[in-house]
Order: sequence, then structure tokens, then C-alpha cells
Amino acid sequence: MPRRKIALIGAGNIGGTMAHLCALKGLGDVVLYDVIDGLPQGKALDLLQSAPIENFDAQITGTTKYEGIAGADVCIVTAGIVRKPGMSRDDLLGTNSKIMSQVAEGIKSYAPNALVIVITNPLDAMVTLVKRVTGFPKNRVVGQSGILDSSRYRTFIAQELKVSVASVSAVVLGGHGDDMVPVRSGCQLSGVPVEKFISSQRLDEIEARVRNAGGEIVALLKTGSAFYAPASAAVRMAQSYLMDKKEILPCAAYLEGEYGVKGYYFGVPVMIGAGGVEKVIEIELSPRERKLFEESLGHVKELVAAMDRVIKA
Ligand code: APR
Repeated sequence: MPRRKIALIGAGNIGGTMAHLCALKGLGDVVLYDVIDGLPQGKALDLLQSAPIENFDAQITGTTKYEGIAGADVCIVTAGIVRKPGMSRDDLLGTNSKIMSQVAEGIKSYAPNALVIVITNPLDAMVTLVKRVTGFPKNRVVGQSGILDSSRYRTFIAQELKVSVASVSAVVLGGHGDDMVPVRSGCQLSGVPVEKFISSQRLDEIEARVRNAGGEIVALLKTGSAFYAPASAAVRMAQSYLMDKKEILPCAAYLEGEYGVKGYYFGVPVMIGAGGVEKVIEIELSPRERKLFEESLGHVKELVAAMDRVIKA
């Protein structure tokens, strides 16, 4: 069987990290695409030279031409600009909307059968735009957000309790913004509700840190945003698709009535398998979580409306 082809659109911090992860995990051949000539080619060559040490056979190439992504099975999009300290994800809307329209045209022309995973921020708007421009069905355009946010929630809870991250399950739903919804009622330590171990006041503080976790890293890095964990999150999605694992993962999925939401991308648990987003899983929310969910949805609606204005202008 020929190796699968993974196209990474944007060869910056997240793109390069994903290329490395895809090679180490043996997911397939990797093509890095970027508009900066030399960047994707240089990173590809460097990664390729780690193959004899790491013992992988994947081909890794770099290109500035969309022809290079032809026939890709998966396209993961990180093209765009990143936040600077003090900026919100929404501040990237104007520039990244233009970039996303070009990227979506390229994918539509050269990888018409691919699963597209969007990472570029503001995520909920950018994934909406990619679906619109490509015209791909909803099962083949999905956003990476909830796996990362949930992973941050699990990390902080595990640190607080001094237990293995493997013993903590948690999910974060809603938009990938400061009003995302950590689902406290579903957060458990080996099946026992987290509220039995941590006070509600302390959980409020931890959840506030989860919401601002991306911003905390931007403030520390000063010249970039988080990339290791976002890369891991998207590669996990690609792996579930390529290997038909049917994992249930929180992602930004296009909703048509699920959770009472129609016509918007929103962070919810989905099953990812060979058919892409095969199913949306509906979980019960407490009244407080439902309220936060609605507030987050309101923000996503405003963001999409703002994007529409940017595109018309
Ligand atoms: N087509 C392809 N690549 C592009 C384009 C374009 N039209 N415009 C910019 N790029 C490239 C840049 O040249 C850069 O190499 O996108 C890359 C982005 O890489 P980084 O600046 O390192 O950003 P990264 O940390 O990878 O994050 C990218 O993901 O999480 C989000 O908020 C983050 O929107 C940002 C995106």
C-alpha cells in the first residue's frame, strides 16, 4: 500500500513540529508548504536527515507551489500570522481571513479529496471560511481547538493533584476563545468527579488559567504563540482519520442542529475515522455550563459576522 500523504500548509512553528511528529509516528509522507521560499525546503531537509537516526522511511519535502500538495489525504492549515503579547486571537481576523481564502483555493484545486484540519486563528471563523471556499462537505473540514484546550485543563488538574495526566479526563467545549467552556461536571480523576478533590473556588482559578493558557504562553514567548501542544493536537486528529481509529475528540465541527446550534462551527466532541468527522457526540451540560456554552456561541456568531464584513470590504 502506498504511504499516505500529509500536506502541512504553513511551515512555521506548528507546521515544522507537526512534520516531525508525523514522521516519528510513521503516519505517511509529509509535504511542507509555505510562501517563504527556502523555509519549507530547509525544514524538510533537516527533518529528512533525522530519518536514519529515528529510523523512519517517510519522505519529507518542502515547496512553495500548490502542485506539491497534489493528492494529499490530509491538509493541516497553520498559514497565517500569530498573536503578539496583548492581542486576542480575534485581532488576527483581517490578515488571516485573506490568507485563508488563498489557502482554501489551493486545497480545493490540488487536494480535492483531503480531510482539512484548520489550526489558524481565530479558529472558529477560519474553519468556517475554509469550508465555504472549498465547498467540501462538513465531515471533511474540521478545526483543531478542543483537544488542545482539554489537554491544558487535564495538565493543570494533574499538576494540582500531583497525579498522572493519564488519570485525569476532561473536556473543553465551545469556541476557541477566552470564553471556552471547561466542562467541570465531566472532569474526573479515574472516574471520580474532580469536585471531590478540588474546591469550587480553586477550580474557578484553574479554569480561568485554561481559558488564558494560550495568552500566558504568548506573553512568555513574546514573538510567537504555543506550538508544541497545538501540533500534537492536530496530529492526533490526523492519526485518528488515517488509521480509522474512531477516537472521540473535542474539535470544532460544523453543527446542523446538534446542541441546538445550526450553521456554525463550534467545539464539541466528535468521532474521527476514515470518513472524517463521522459523528457529533452530544453530552449533557449542567445549567451553568449551558449558559457559558450559549455565551461562547454568541461570541463565535459575532466573530463570523466580523469575518463576513472583512471579506466584503
Ligand atoms: N500560505 C502559506 N503559508 C503562509 C501564508 C500563505 N498565504 N501566509 C503566511 N504563511 C506562513 C508564514 O510564512 C509562516 O511560516 O504561515 C507560517 C505560520 O507560522 P508561524 O508564524 O511560526 O506560526 P505558528 O506558531 O505555526 O501558528 C500559525 O496557528 O495556532 C495558530 O494562532 C496561530 O494563527 C496562528 C497559526
